[in-house]
Amino acid sequence: MNINLAINEGSKILKSKFIPNPLLDAEILMAKTINKDRKYILLNNSDPVNKTDLNNFYKLIEQRSLGNPIAYLTKKKSFWNSEFFIVKDILIPRPDTELIVESVLKSTKQKSKINILDIGVGSGCIIVSILKERENFRGTGIDLSKKCLILSKKNAIAHRVSSRLKLYKSDIDKFNLGKYDLIVSNPPYIKTCKLKYLERDVAEFEPRLALDGGLDGLSEIRKVIKKSSELIKKNGKFILEIGFDQKNKVINLLKKEGFYINSTHKDLANNDRCIVSTKI
Ligand SMILES: C[S@@+](CC[C@H](N)C(=O)[O-])C[C@H]1O[C@@H](n2cnc3c(N)ncnc32)[C@H](O)[C@@H]1O
Repeated sequence: MNINLAINEGSKILKSKFIPNPLLDAEILMAKTINKDRKYILLNNSDPVNKTDLNNFYKLIEQRSLGNPIAYLTKKKSFWNSEFFIVKDILIPRPDTELIVESVLKSTKQKSKINILDIGVGSGCIIVSILKERENFRGTGIDLSKKCLILSKKNAIAHRVSSRLKLYKSDIDKFNLGKYDLIVSNPPYIKTCKLKYLERDVAEFEPRLALDGGLDGLSEIRKVIKKSSELIKKNGKFILEIGFDQKNKVINLLKKEGFYINSTHKDLANNDRCIVSTKI
């Protein structure tokens, strides 16, 4: 069997299981199987596929047809301008979250020496992207999940920023180390009762710890705002990702903790997604 035929077969299987982009996913999984990029497989699609590769390809197709996200199968995901290692039990970085990186770059200068804290560091995608762009910044990342810290470290090493990044396993509430010029966070913000209605790929495969924002979706956001108001320096910037319907409530919470609202930003779907504020 050649690459093209195998991809078509794989794509048919995915389509029959209602996977949204069956052909693209089959191409990506073939590229992963034979350890080449997608361009290679498109340009060499009449090459034969050996038996072992074919078996491995169909195993990945089976996993995908059960809803397992592509990033967990390929073990990588692009974010900002880099590729990040990804493993099961860690939130897959979302394009919406790039708004945080963009806002940081807009509100800081290339040469500034800044201490930045990322609350809920996950894969490390936010802080590592920022440290790559700003060579004089020093970063701290915290997460409740040990697995996240191990992966953040691996990503920091891969992107050559590990000497400027400290990582701590801690609950938001319990972290009391240092004072920061800039704090960023993409906390869990989905209402518990809505979790089961998320797309199957997310609901069944992504970690609840990264998604569950409690009864009203704001329980972790409240903690992050309170902790940030304690750890941030006067005039420090706080950049927070929020759920699409949380803008007004979160702005009120921020004001109560002494933050001035600089701006809010919408994601590609035109939903309010990111708030930039300053501690006054
Ligand atoms: C929405 S994910 C964001 C991950 C990553 N920053 C990103 O944007 O892809 C939230 C992260 O917060 C962590 N987290 C959840 N509750 C926490 C808590 N109480 N204290 C510290 N970290 C927490 C989760 O483990 C998860 O990695």
